[in-house]
Amino acid sequence: MEDCLKHMRENIICRDKIISKLYSLIGNSDEPMPQNLFIYGHLSTGKSLVIESLLKYLNYRHSIINCIEHPSSKSLFEYILNDINNYKDNKSLDDLKNNYKCDNFMQFIDHLKIIQSNNYDNYGNSPIVIVLDKCERLRDMDSNLLPGFLRLNELTKLNILTVLISDIVWDKYFIKTGIIEPLKIFFTQYTFEEIAEILYLYRPDNYRSEIFYKNYINLFLSVFFRYCRDINELRYMTILNYKKYIEPINLGQCKDTDVTTLWRNISSTLKANLEVIYLRVSTDDFTERTQLSQEIESTTKLALSFELPFYAKFMLIAAYLASYNPPKEDKRLFVKASDKKKKRPTINKKKRITMFTHTGPRTFPLDRMLAIFCAISEEKIDISANLLAQIPTMCQLGLLTTVGDNNLDEPKFKCCVNYDFITVISKKVGFNVKNYLYDFIH
Ligand SMILES: Nc1ncnc2c1ncn2[C@@H]1O[C@H](COP(=O)(O)OP(=O)(O)O)[C@@H](O)[C@H]1O
Ligand SMILES: [Mg+2]
Repeated sequence: MEDCLKHMRENIICRDKIISKLYSLIGNSDEPMPQNLFIYGHLSTGKSLVIESLLKYLNYRHSIINCIEHPSSKSLFEYILNDINNYKDNKSLDDLKNNYKCDNFMQFIDHLKIIQSNNYDNYGNSPIVIVLDKCERLRDMDSNLLPGFLRLNELTKLNILTVLISDIVWDKYFIKTGIIEPLKIFFTQYTFEEIAEILYLYRPDNYRSEIFYKNYINLFLSVFFRYCRDINELRYMTILNYKKYIEPINLGQCKDTDVTTLWRNISSTLKANLEVIYLRVSTDDFTERTQLSQEIESTTKLALSFELPFYAKFMLIAAYLASYNPPKEDKRLFVKASDKKKKRPTINKKKRITMFTHTGPRTFPLDRMLAIFCAISEEKIDISANLLAQIPTMCQLGLLTTVGDNNLDEPKFKCCVNYDFITVISKKVGFNVKNYLYDFIH
């Protein structure tokens, strides 16, 4: 046990208690395994990490399945069987493919027995572990799946353990008949101090000194902790903001110990980043950022760099909607009360294939934008000169362009920002563009 804890502590901290508990349940390969385990707790509390590392350490034959990746029970069965069968064998990938075909639970059980008897010489009656991560997905599959997996060792008469991992409590599984209650293990949420410690574990190479970086993490968490506990997200954000944090030191403007200056420099950035938390595609490996995440990050940054006044943001959203919605649908989209009684017009299927968000932006007259603006802004706002004066400013900023010869009576515009950009802007004013985009509501 001590060895195990020591080994695990290299990568996992603050989880000693749970690891000891799990070890005492499954750590001894000579003893029969428990029938099943149900592991639950909030997102990113280390559930997958702990189980995966423990099984690797114990060196049991196991298969870890993310249930979301499998559309049918057939693919789930086949994946597990091939995974367990080929565990530790160095067969080439071609050999691995399609080794097992399995349509239903009965076949699955037969195959498992065959695999174990084939490998008996190598492994004896050594344990097999099947981990079903995100197992809430199984609720939507065949109704015999969950009950079956829970009593797999009884059905196969093998030393086999099923581990279910879920973000949802067991009570929400609503299965009344033929099910045995699993042994439940709860992963508590991390406290402020624990998250700080974990983030310190993932410090960058240029972290300067322990005190300096821990100070930074404390500052960072003092802003972020209330809003986000997702370690993946926080890891990403700490590293991102750290570059900005040490900027004044690199420029020679202040010393390591000058905490007030450093705080003043970073506080606004942290608060701005708080608004875009989760808007980015999260990647586990920060060094290899995908192009997509870079793009999204840069649009969000760009969008936030425009400190537009509140109503100007609505104006921009109105412009976007005018550019990417077909004009004849305006009435249906924006006029709320009068429309409810009427039946929805049946729309010709062929016509609907054109995606308006893909083919825009179209030009629109000023009046149309103002009409949409009035419809989407909740309060009654007078279209004042002040408000109209924002339009040329937005043109100057490159958010809108005027189109054609500048006809003063009927100026026409186009909106130049893309969907990601407008999502960020609408998020800031608490508006959901999707509800008003023709493409999304059909
Ligand atoms: N106790 C911990 N020690 C070190 N890193 C951790 C710890 N808990 C979580 N992490 C980090 O958070 C990430 C997400 O954890 P994960 O096991 O996927 O959470 P869950 O499965 O509970 O949603 C891990 O990849 C790891 O980088
Ligand atoms: Mg997980």
